[in-house]
Amino acid sequence: LFAKPWVFIRGVPSLKFLPPEGPPEIAFAGRSNVGKSSLINALVGAKGLARTSNTPGRTQELNYFVPGGYSGAEDDLPPMALVDMPGYGYAKAPKEQVDLWTKLVFDYMRGRSTLKRVYLLIDSRHGIKKNDEEVMDLLDKAAMSYQVVLTKTDKIKEAGVPRLIGETLNKLKRRPAAYPEVLATSSEKANGVDDLRIAIALAITV
Ligand code: GTP
Ligand code: MG
Repeated sequence: LFAKPWVFIRGVPSLKFLPPEGPPEIAFAGRSNVGKSSLINALVGAKGLARTSNTPGRTQELNYFVPGGYSGAEDDLPPMALVDMPGYGYAKAPKEQVDLWTKLVFDYMRGRSTLKRVYLLIDSRHGIKKNDEEVMDLLDKAAMSYQVVLTKTDKIKEAGVPRLIGETLNKLKRRPAAYPEVLATSSEKANGVDDLRIAIALAITV
């Protein structure tokens, strides 16, 4: 799955531009700037594939990535797609714009039948915030499987990582759709990326 070069196939600015429901999809959600696009690049081993930036609000559409070599014809569909999403929360963009992105992301996560799992990214330095809790409420209510991934672990002390994983797991205890394992990653150092690949490969088979 991850041995091939991946390609960008489509940017979706609103739900009506979504591709027909087909291959299993895995989506990446989280506050602006948490490192969604960077983690996708680390997963597929291509630094510049998903566009990243230090300015929150970089990703502005649902961006579809698939392993290369598929025509997209009805009988030649890719085995899966990774979907990079706009962040929620603070962004360097007008509030109306941010509200529209948030609605797009929330509607997609609630209603997409071929979405197999949402990866909910949490910045290791900040932990779970109120708007992350709101997203988890929505996913629990929609019975949409999600797994929490801590990002940017290179920015905190190594010894603090196991404790942070434990604290985070504790907060997920009574959440029915939360996968009971929290992954810790650094896209910068490529830490935890192998484990995430394995988790994704398993998630698309269910
Ligand atoms: P939006 O699309 O704006 O919502 O942001 P995003 O969640 O896609 O974040 P993005 O991947 O663009 O990364 C935001 C910033 O964090 C960039 O400056 C990245 O270089 C940095 N960053 C991402 N992952 C890591 C990491 O693992 N370690 C460190 N140190 N920096 C990271
Ligand atoms: Mg992004």
